[in-house]
Amino acid sequence: MRFLGNKRRLLESIQAAVGESWGNRPGRLVDVFAGTAVVGGHFRTLGWQVWGCDALRLSYWRQVAVLEGTPWVRFDRLGIEARDLAGVLAWLRGLDPVEGPLTRHFSPAGPAERMYLTRAHAGALDAALVRLRQWYLDAKICRVGVGLILTSLLDALSRVANISGVYAAYLKSWQPNTRQELDFRVPVVPWEQPVGRATHDDSEAFLPGHTFDVAYLDPPYNRRQYPAYYHVPEFVARWVDAQHPGLIEASLYGKTGMLPYQGSDFCRPRKVFAAFRRLLLSCAAGWVVISYSEEGLLSEAQFSELLAEFSGGAFQLETGLQRIPSQRFRSDKNRKGRQYKVVKGREDNRVHEWLFVARRAAAPSVLPRCGP
Ligand SMILES: C[S@@+](CC[C@H](N)C(=O)[O-])C[C@H]1O[C@@H](n2cnc3c(N)ncnc32)[C@H](O)[C@@H]1O
Repeated sequence: MRFLGNKRRLLESIQAAVGESWGNRPGRLVDVFAGTAVVGGHFRTLGWQVWGCDALRLSYWRQVAVLEGTPWVRFDRLGIEARDLAGVLAWLRGLDPVEGPLTRHFSPAGPAERMYLTRAHAGALDAALVRLRQWYLDAKICRVGVGLILTSLLDALSRVANISGVYAAYLKSWQPNTRQELDFRVPVVPWEQPVGRATHDDSEAFLPGHTFDVAYLDPPYNRRQYPAYYHVPEFVARWVDAQHPGLIEASLYGKTGMLPYQGSDFCRPRKVFAAFRRLLLSCAAGWVVISYSEEGLLSEAQFSELLAEFSGGAFQLETGLQRIPSQRFRSDKNRKGRQYKVVKGREDNRVHEWLFVARRAAAPSVLPRCGP
């Protein structure tokens, strides 16, 4: 799945940063702004127990698949012949199309005539989605089973969506990818590795009260609010197990069928520093590894201040910051007239990804007590 800020290309650097700080033995890691869960999934592959957290429901279901998926999930109570995940996905793909929520709201067959999905793709996805929801309501499938199937459906949706990278708008003519056959693939999951835990929550609400060896933090770095860019898959992820799916459908608004959402303070220039500070102070992890872009709302100096406080004064930019050259993410083609803030002396498609590593200062409770 294409996702703004996906760290697939930085996995080696993140693994090396963790290796040089915590060490190479697997421990307990939290992927706090998990997104696609690609970082958490990578560490699970290495034998770590990984917890994830994200404010998006679509991330939650993907974390469920990648962090909690095991070979023991049962698919044999569905009342169909298929008994394993691949068989169930093939069976779902063979269903006749139905007019469900995606057809109603995100295909030209709906009253708003939105062109995110062709009618055929929307109908096929709806058929699978409606059946999955019913299995879940009838307790024929467990939550992890839903995560595995839904991740496959969301990946399929992402391959045939009529967009240029994000869902902020649909394209006015059908793109070549929308003529592809819809295909439900078994998601890539480190099946045999330690089972972690998926969470759908705000990072600030989730972190306090949990302890980890390493916390990996990859917050948004600019004003782009994620729910505004992924409302179509987010709608699917919320609809599938919603108590009142009709309410979610009724809440869609505007030309693109936007879902109402609460914005994140990490995308607000005037709030991001305080939000980061609160997060770090509540983070009971021995080490933090932070990804951020040099084009982001916070500066090196601000991170220096935040991490000095987190580490009890030990953090130094010279040793605690790596600057990794990387390709700028473009959600669409390089339009004529498009403008970027280009760093002096740098090609316009090259930016530095920052990777900060800091060790937490000993908690006050383990320091010698002062006074009487
Ligand atoms: C840069 S992306 C993470 C990308 C992820 N590391 C990956 O490789 O796919 C930032 C993520 O932070 C999430 N997010 C933003 N504000 C949040 C908050 N306050 N609490 C939890 N998650 C938040 C967004 O939903 C988004 O998935």
